[in-house]
Amino acid sequence: MSTVNPHQNGLGAASLPHHIAIIMDGNGRWAKRKHLPRTAGHHAGVESVRLVVEACAKRGIEVLTLFAFGKENWQRPVQEVGYLMELFLKALESEVKKLHQNNVKLQFIGDCSALSDKLKTSMAQSNALTASNTGLVLNIAVDYSGRWDILQASKRLAKQVEAGQLKADTISSADFEQYLCLHGLPEPDLFIRTSGEQRISNFLLWQLAYTELYFTDVLWPDLTEEIIEEALIFYSNRQRRFGFTGEQMESQQSA
Ligand code: FPP
Repeated sequence: MSTVNPHQNGLGAASLPHHIAIIMDGNGRWAKRKHLPRTAGHHAGVESVRLVVEACAKRGIEVLTLFAFGKENWQRPVQEVGYLMELFLKALESEVKKLHQNNVKLQFIGDCSALSDKLKTSMAQSNALTASNTGLVLNIAVDYSGRWDILQASKRLAKQVEAGQLKADTISSADFEQYLCLHGLPEPDLFIRTSGEQRISNFLLWQLAYTELYFTDVLWPDLTEEIIEEALIFYSNRQRRFGFTGEQMESQQSA
């Protein structure tokens, strides 16, 4: 269910986001500042992943989506890519039990066809182990890009049209969304990017249409509870309008 709901939040409503999406950026710069190899930044970044997962679970946030590896990241030095893949595997192996004990439902979004069999197996097992959990839904985007997601959804929709199951003229947003990776989940309410970069970098292009965007200069490995709290306060002070006027939203709120 990823339709826009104008009643979801109002002016200054001290409400928590249902879904937070994060670009975890700045690992390389963090390492460079410390005269360490870039990989040390990725290693340190795992601790921030733990921190944000715990912070979201503690607050009852429903969905957290983390951009761990983009389709374009395959172009990085082969050593760095190899290190990241090993890191994902190790992190999965060491964290999945704890996530399961904490009722976290772990899912992966992305193409993933180019990942090693070992990593794909570990991802599938983690997914299966936590599938019936009812707490935080944690989506890890690996080998993902927003354009890839839109394209793969379009291809699947086109096949339905080819098969005569759907008329091109009647295709609705809902028909399209059912094929997107995050179908069935609410759209992100809050997007966070660390490291001072202010762009979306091919993350959830369709789903971020009405998301509140929060940027912080803090590098991902330096993430703290306070930064997460600041982002949540920023969110609670936004008036979400979804194309309506501020007055309309206020009258809906008081009705
Ligand atoms: C971006 O920083 C970060 C990545 C491409 C990798 C993110 C991976 C982690 C945080 C490791 C752990 C993740 C999981 C899910 C266990 P960058 O390398 O682009 O930093 P830079 O812009 O400073 O170079």
